Amino acid sequence: MKTRKIILDCDPGHDDAIAILLAGSNPAIDLLGITVVAGNQTLIKTGINTLNLCQYLEIDVPVCLGSANPIIKNIEVCELIHGETGLDGFDFETLKRDFDSRSAVEFIVQTILDSKDPITVVTTGPMTNLALAIKVEPKILENIEEVVLMGGSYTNGNVSPAAEFNIFTDPEAAYIVFNSKLKVTMIGLDVTRQVKVLPEIISRMEGINTKSSILFTKLMKVFNENQKSVFGLEGGPLHDPVTIAYLIDPTILDLKYMHCDIDISHGPSYGRTNCDIFDYLHLEKNTFVAMDINSNRFWDIVEIELKNK
Ligand code: RIB
Ligand code: CA
Repeated sequence: MKTRKIILDCDPGHDDAIAILLAGSNPAIDLLGITVVAGNQTLIKTGINTLNLCQYLEIDVPVCLGSANPIIKNIEVCELIHGETGLDGFDFETLKRDFDSRSAVEFIVQTILDSKDPITVVTTGPMTNLALAIKVEPKILENIEEVVLMGGSYTNGNVSPAAEFNIFTDPEAAYIVFNSKLKVTMIGLDVTRQVKVLPEIISRMEGINTKSSILFTKLMKVFNENQKSVFGLEGGPLHDPVTIAYLIDPTILDLKYMHCDIDISHGPSYGRTNCDIFDYLHLEKNTFVAMDINSNRFWDIVEIELKNK
């Protein structure tokens, strides 16, 4: 089996945690390292959460701290959904892991330049670290196979009528990545809202009774409580793991290649991913946008990985 070498950049975050779980367990994924960004919570909290998750799941990869703030904006965390810790709902044992000495940008640049094989960069938080790495060392563009991101929406947003959280938090970073001429695959709210952690999913995964399923169940119960109180949802959309499930089985997504522009105009649509689905503007296409998802296959992938350990 051909494995896909990846760097995962994230802001754990309940759904990021499940993305880390999938990336750390499936043999199709060669997880080279995890870089952390502020987003769902402050950088130190998303960083500590990442170390705790790697310790609990026995994932032995470098964890590198990245940017504490977006490129232009100030950080506004998402405490209502992810809680004061950023990962409310699970009590980890005493942390014995520490951060790698390299910053996220140093790790991304060094790993990509040193790799004999092209690397896929997966982002499940604001895209600050990847954007800064591209600006610091543009040579990495020659050895990045694909950027797979959770973010954006070709319909409506989840932090404003127009914008999704990851893009809205750092629109300028997203603008840099979407205009980098890299292969960009955007997995937006349009498909992630189709994989809600409904009560029957909780029951299905709880019954597996492995370390991973215990983590999944405890985190998702809190995630769902918060999603219910904020959005009135019966189950939270499991956004971030769709990126990894796509790498495990690309057939779970229907993709359409189109021009996508990031609105950095500071108006009411600031941070919107303007997806030109019908090619009205006849601009150069730059993004593979996820239009639909095979939800049943997604949950099968999650179940398989929860059974793994
Ligand atoms: O809009 C959903 C995204 O914002 C997810 O990545 C979630 O973890 C938050 O970061
Ligand atoms: Ca996230």
